[in-house]
Formats: sequence, C-alpha cells, structure tokens
Amino acid sequence: MADLSKTPIAALAGDAVIHHFRKIYHGQMILNVGITREHANDLIAAGLGDFVAFGREYIANPDFIERVRLKAPLNELRPEGFYGPSPVGYTDYPSLTQNQIESLTKEIIGETL
Ligand SMILES: Cc1cc2nc3c(=O)[nH]c(=O)nc-3n(C[C@H](O)[C@H](O)[C@H](O)COP(=O)(O)O)c2cc1C
Repeated sequence: MADLSKTPIAALAGDAVIHHFRKIYHGQMILNVGITREHANDLIAAGLGDFVAFGREYIANPDFIERVRLKAPLNELRPEGFYGPSPVGYTDYPSLTQNQIESLTKEIIGETL
C-alpha cells in the first residue's frame, strides 16, 4: 500500500485505507499500490473494491494478464529502469516462452481434473 506516513491519513496505513473509503464511498473503486495478485483476489472477493490496478508488475511483465491466468511466476522488478529516459526497463522484460505457457496450461488443466 502507499506510504501514508507524514500525511493526515497516516492512521489508515495498509488495508485500513481501503476499508475506510469503502464505508464512505459507494461508487466503483479501483485499488492500487503494492497489491499482489493473491491479495487482489481477496480484496475483490471481500467486496472491498471493484478493480485492482497493477503498475510495476504490469511494466515488468508484458504478458501480465496471461501470467495471472496461468498463475505463472512474475519477472523480477528492475527499479533502476523505472522513470528512465529510454525504452530500457519498459520494453525489454521477457514474456513467457511457448514451452512455459504449454507446461503451465497442463498444470492448470491437471488441477481442474
Ligand atoms: C515507471 C512507472 C511509471 C508510471 N507511470 C504512471 C503514469 O504515467 N500515470 C499514472 O497514473 N501512474 C503511473 N505510475 C504509477 C502506477 O500506475 C502505480 O500507481 C504505482 O506503480 C503503484 O502501483 P503498483 O504497486 O502496482 O506498482 C507509474 C509507475 C511506475 C513505476
């Protein structure tokens, strides 16, 4: 979650900020900052938000959606590439290979049989 220390809502660190705004705001909420795939599923299942936005993991995984679907490991973040002036760190993270996709798909199919 965002670093709320030294802000007027410092007491709402962690998920408390989500609980706080869910109670007082009844429109659609997009949750963001430091939320893992697993935590995102928990938050949505608990009705605490409508969507979750992923920033760094999306940058580091050009096939992020596919990786979520396949429960695939994510690429390690390279923060030194964030906010840089060049495409390095934005366009050079690897996607899953076809072999990885096939083997992860088989695992998922195995789980559902
Ligand atoms: C390199 C980089 C570029 C970003 N550019 C934008 C942007 O252009 N607009 C925006 O609203 N947020 C931008 N963000 C913020 C992300 O959308 C997101 O709020 C932030 O990374 C926290 O979410 P996360 O923990 O999933 O990364 C950027 C973040 C990073 C790391």
